[in-house]
Amino acid sequence: MNDLAGKHIVLGLSGGIACYKSAELCRLLTKAGATVQVVMSEAATRFITPMTMQALSNRPVVTSQWDAREPNHMPHINLGREADALLIAPASANLMARLVQGRADDLLTLMCLARPLERVALLLAPAMNREMWAHPATQRNVSQLQADGAVVFPVGQGDQACGEVGDGRMLEPQELLDLLVAHFQPKVLAGHRVLVTAGPTFEAIDPVRGITNHSSGKMGFAVARAAREAGAEVTLVAGPVHLPTPWGVRRLNVQSALDMQAVVQAEVEHATVFVAAAAVADWRPATAYDQKIKKDGSGQPPVLSFVENPDILAGVAASERAQRGELFCVGFAAESHDLEAHAQAKRARKGVPLLVGNIGPATFGQDDNALLLVDEHGCRAVPHGPKLALARQLVAEIARRLGRVA
Ligand code: CTP
Repeated sequence: MNDLAGKHIVLGLSGGIACYKSAELCRLLTKAGATVQVVMSEAATRFITPMTMQALSNRPVVTSQWDAREPNHMPHINLGREADALLIAPASANLMARLVQGRADDLLTLMCLARPLERVALLLAPAMNREMWAHPATQRNVSQLQADGAVVFPVGQGDQACGEVGDGRMLEPQELLDLLVAHFQPKVLAGHRVLVTAGPTFEAIDPVRGITNHSSGKMGFAVARAAREAGAEVTLVAGPVHLPTPWGVRRLNVQSALDMQAVVQAEVEHATVFVAAAAVADWRPATAYDQKIKKDGSGQPPVLSFVENPDILAGVAASERAQRGELFCVGFAAESHDLEAHAQAKRARKGVPLLVGNIGPATFGQDDNALLLVDEHGCRAVPHGPKLALARQLVAEIARRLGRVA
């Protein structure tokens, strides 16, 4: 997706072994549609060459405030003026210490100091040894940078180049891209707590078998990500799917509809928005056998009987908080035909103000979808597009209904 189309990003590199990840980051930024101007400190050029970064950004790299290519001889001013954001990755301990003091003794620090504070965000991706990261001086600097208006991304955890294991690794390029994309999304759900269900459920027959459905969970995961990007605190209750958890989202894995119901009931009392995107199995086997059902040699298959699962969404929508308007409930409807009529009937049956209809068989497992938003007044089609783009539109719609304007 061209999530950064039209954005101009200044990608600053200070010295650190994590510079090798910045090459991939640069590639991801341009792939996402951004134009990228790379600025490197002298120390950064010891770890990766400007030529590499020039080839990936398709622009000459700036390394010095004395760069004579700028007609006005003021690269530090021009760089900040032209940018939509300054992303410093890696941000070394030394660079952060210098930024805290407002120093301007090389191009990177000059540029950060000279940026138009109100318009151009400064985003820092720290990278350092775990002792350096944990040091009170560094932690003090992080707090001060945040107080001064910079966004300091978290650090990763794991093996470090120095051989130690701990906190301080720079986040992976894809994580940094996701955080940058999120940064540009309007914070229309800030202060809200959103609970999302996603994926199929798995109803056990015995320890090795069960029934489930083709839901991939992609739409629900996209809703969780979009809500997080919009500034909400998000909890995602996920059935059995192999999808990465969106950045900053709290994920609780479940298997069966009953598990999902129990977790939702425990979590929903803290939520202000509930989005039920899961494809919950309608029935479960009446008996889940403790041991594998064996063939008995008669040639007759076992006879299974089923019981209906509870309707999680209808239960939540009927709760006192939802009825009092403290919890906004959104349902999904996966239909195979007559979408509008089925979606309207389902919305009324479940008692939710907003229901999102889609054609189930056509969308399961796909990255794209098309939605039909149904409420008491009628319906609105959200045309075909990537699930994340649709999820962002749904989040904007929810925010509008909560009185938030983008
Ligand atoms: N849902 C739920 N609990 C269930 C069944 C469905 O919370 N036991 C929610 C889904 O997450 C979705 C909405 O209800 O938001 C509609 O789900 P869907 O499977 O389309 O509809 P059903 O209620 O199962 O109705 P039908 O099978 O008749 O289409």
